[in-house]
Amino acid sequence: MQSIYSKIRVGGENTNSVRWSWFRRFGSWKIERDSRFKKVDDKDTARFESILDSRNNPSSVLYQKTENLSAYNTDWLRKYKGEAPVVLKPKQTQEVSALLEYCNANNIAVCVQGGNTGLVGGSVPVFDEVIINLSRMNNILSFDEQSGILQCEAGVILENADKYLREKYTFIYPLDLGAKGSCQIGGNISTNAGGLRLLRYFVYFFHSLVSSLPPFLVFLSPLWFFFFFFLKSINHKYKRYGNLHGNVMGLEVVLANGNVLNLQSNNIKDNTGYDLKHLFIGSEGTLGVITKASVLCMKEPTSYNLLFLALPSFANALKVKLLAKRVLNEIISAIEFADFQSLKFPLTYLHNRCSFPLEGKYTDYPFYMLIETSGSNDTHDKEKLTQLIETLFNEKLISAGTIAQDMGQFRSIWTLREGIGPGIGESKRACYKYDVSLPLYQMYDVVENCRVRVEEMLGHDTIKRGEIDVVGYGHLGDGNLHLNVVTPTFASKYENVLEPWIYDQCSYYRGSISAEHGLGRMKGNMIHYNKSALAVNLMKNFKQLLDPKGILNPYKLKVSYPKNMLWHCFCLLLLKSNFNEQAVKPSQQKLTAFSR
Ligand code: FAD
Ligand code: MLT
Ligand code: ZN
Repeated sequence: MQSIYSKIRVGGENTNSVRWSWFRRFGSWKIERDSRFKKVDDKDTARFESILDSRNNPSSVLYQKTENLSAYNTDWLRKYKGEAPVVLKPKQTQEVSALLEYCNANNIAVCVQGGNTGLVGGSVPVFDEVIINLSRMNNILSFDEQSGILQCEAGVILENADKYLREKYTFIYPLDLGAKGSCQIGGNISTNAGGLRLLRYFVYFFHSLVSSLPPFLVFLSPLWFFFFFFLKSINHKYKRYGNLHGNVMGLEVVLANGNVLNLQSNNIKDNTGYDLKHLFIGSEGTLGVITKASVLCMKEPTSYNLLFLALPSFANALKVKLLAKRVLNEIISAIEFADFQSLKFPLTYLHNRCSFPLEGKYTDYPFYMLIETSGSNDTHDKEKLTQLIETLFNEKLISAGTIAQDMGQFRSIWTLREGIGPGIGESKRACYKYDVSLPLYQMYDVVENCRVRVEEMLGHDTIKRGEIDVVGYGHLGDGNLHLNVVTPTFASKYENVLEPWIYDQCSYYRGSISAEHGLGRMKGNMIHYNKSALAVNLMKNFKQLLDPKGILNPYKLKVSYPKNMLWHCFCLLLLKSNFNEQAVKPSQQKLTAFSR
């Protein structure tokens, strides 16, 4: 198949190269320290120590001068490094409130930090912002078995919340992800984390009325009303349990000026006024510090099953997904996929925790899928699974497969999938992570296009020689691809090849440049790829209203359009008019084959 990017590339003899260099203007985002922010001095630290009573709680204020703060200043991917001179660890809401009130009054910039597992650089300072780390606010406050609502502080680690619910009440937390042992409930809510089992608890998002309006309407301020209407109506769009927008029932948030906004609720239904908590879900620490949450949890399923399948093509994976949804329906709780290139990392670097569950080698098949079911009647669930497996073999959709026989195998297979990111981390190489939403029929084309682009731009044997790995995996049930490009180091020669190329691909296919990890520092200036000028302007107004001095997580998730936006639109139009439609055709053929 000819790649759509064999004609559109930087450099070489191709005439389109010039156009790509225009796009590159948006690729590297140079950030300068904002001189309005004060550098922390002794007077400030004395005040911090007094608020947190550091004489009696020595670990509540940590200094760069005396401690090694690199674990707080470096992100999980080791891609971003900040220079916070001080880390503040409050134990209660009133302390967060007093800290923010002081920082706001004195123009001290703040970086909010949970478990520091974020993958877009949002959780570490860019310059010398002080870090407010929530790890000491780790109390579970209550659980109501009747409503299923858990109330806890924001610093509770996800795995601890889940363990508490399982062991004491046979309930489960509605979110599960690979970083569960370190990430915090507040961090999950602030990033609106998706995770591995979102499918079951999936929310149908209301297509924002605001973002469908033409951008020039941004100047008509009375349209605020529509935005509030959107916030309120979002509450009614859940299929079953919903994602965090559906499961978070209430929040306590400390605003930039120190005011404590109590949006806590013990009620599943509450239609009194605008549902403001949604503003904070996914706001990445830019609108307030989440200090408490009420989360709707589910009764623990009593029957779990897990299928691991090998497939000859990605097109087959899509067919299997449709069939699985038809046959398994309400008991499906996860549908994940990975190419064989992804599995190399957990199998090589986490081999003591997982193994390849089929006969032969992982390189024998190009694609793999995990399908998990959870229900309350194992006989019924197994009958459905048997029916699915028979159909898959009869229709020759899969090449091989296995079903987990016990919880040991169940966990090992999940580790294979969850361990792709950590496995890449263990390889000690650099990883450019692109977490995108794409229409399913084009999803894997983007991975293949990326391989072609890497080879064309960085040398023809780079992938074959193992210098660079381009791997694709993700949450197939949600249309969420994780395209990871593993390189020897983080260097502009790699970044310039990948960005903004990948965002333009998403734009072309009408996907999203951030499916679940957020914008953070990495994509902080890219919001225009997915949101209209009107929507961005409304966000800017909210930011101004809640954090007028901009002290909360500055330099990240910037709610502004680039100044040269007109130029950008013009370039996009040129790209579209010049896109090699011929090469997109194979995907369209897949589409026809499916509907037959
Ligand atoms: P941090 O990383 O500390 O912070 C993330 C952002 O939230 C930052 O902008 C920070 O300022 C803000 N923030 C943190 N706490 C608060 C608070 N209390 N109030 C206000 N703002 C706050 N994500 C997914 O969506 N799905 C996955 O499947 C998934 N799997 C992962 C697997 C691994 C191995 C890793 C390392 C990460 C994964 N992630 C995944 C990324 C994900 O965003 C985080 O793991 C998690 O949601 C962040 O929680 P955290 O407590 O570590 O927050
Ligand atoms: C996942 O799905 O494994 C996570 O989002 C983390 C990653 O992108 O590796
Ligand atoms: Zn993910």
